[in-house]
Amino acid sequence: MLPGKVKIVEVGPRDGLQNERQVVPTKIKVELIERLADAGLRVIEATSFVSPKWVPQMGDNSAVMQGIKRHPATVYPVLTPNLQGFDAAVQAGATEVAIFGAASESFSRKNINCSIAESLKRFEPVVSAASALEIPVRGYVSCVVGCPYEGAIAPEQAAAVAKTLFDMGCYEVSLGDTIGVGTPASILRMIEACAKAVPIARLAGHYHDTYGMAIANIHASLQTGMATFDASVAGLGGCPYAKGASGNVATEDVVYLLAGLGIETGIDLSKLALVGDWISSLLDRPNGAKAGRALCAKVDS
Ligand code: HMG
Ligand code: MG
Repeated sequence: MLPGKVKIVEVGPRDGLQNERQVVPTKIKVELIERLADAGLRVIEATSFVSPKWVPQMGDNSAVMQGIKRHPATVYPVLTPNLQGFDAAVQAGATEVAIFGAASESFSRKNINCSIAESLKRFEPVVSAASALEIPVRGYVSCVVGCPYEGAIAPEQAAAVAKTLFDMGCYEVSLGDTIGVGTPASILRMIEACAKAVPIARLAGHYHDTYGMAIANIHASLQTGMATFDASVAGLGGCPYAKGASGNVATEDVVYLLAGLGIETGIDLSKLALVGDWISSLLDRPNGAKAGRALCAKVDS
């Protein structure tokens, strides 16, 4: 049975903008986040507290956190790979954080410069520090079905990392098809393995759309009872350590799918489509949301 309600985690300002060639001005990032909240997004991943040498696009993390006028009903999680990032995030006013590991050894090394085991050790003090401050921690597993360096990833590998993150104290584990190679069949095999280790209500789908399968993958995931999905306005994004990966599934397309299935999201699709149109023209890139393009074309005509 399909869930009656779905939570969308908007990751455009982080996953999207971290991969833009141009460094987007802080003012634009702040406006983007505020407009997303105004369209009804209740979870907006705002930035990441990673090394600016690795990801210069997120170098203004504190300024973004301090610049946004917060909507009282919206939370603004940020990525924190280690204690240094966590401390800086708290200092900047973060009230929720996310740690991010991978199901592939090679991707872990390229992305966060350590093995999977080392990364999980490094996350422990972050989760303890967060728990002491009552800050919720979300966990990510990258490359849950495929890796740009290792090819196919066994579902059990994704499940093992998801279980460790959940047992460590993550309230939710987001399963990342980082390079968008999954199809409903491989995604369902992966979810089946993960759901043996983590309750399905605590799992989220984070699907990039490289092969155009992300909407199909969400539709398949819904049948398992999964009710949280990450998405990026206008399909912004990719991953700096996964060459060729395109953006996340577009939030507009997910909202359109869910509305058609009669599933509640609380998001105003017309407002959201305008945000996607605005940020795409500002960044001078094509709008990656098909529903967004269709809705804006209707407004124009
Ligand atoms: P490292 O070089 O191994 O770290 O990087 P280190 O501890 O040896 O420190 C080296 C330098 O980095 C030092 O500076 C530290 O101060 C600094 P120096 O003395 O050389 O001037 N440093 C930091 N600076 C700011 N904030 C920090 C921080 N930590 C150390 N938190 C590290 C390890 C994890 C920091 C690095 O590899 C890194 O920042 N990686 C960025 C990875 C990233 O942001 N990737 C994209 C996000 S993940 C993603 O997109 C996937 C996801 O969307 C899901 C999916 O699609 O699959 C989530
Ligand atoms: Mg991602």
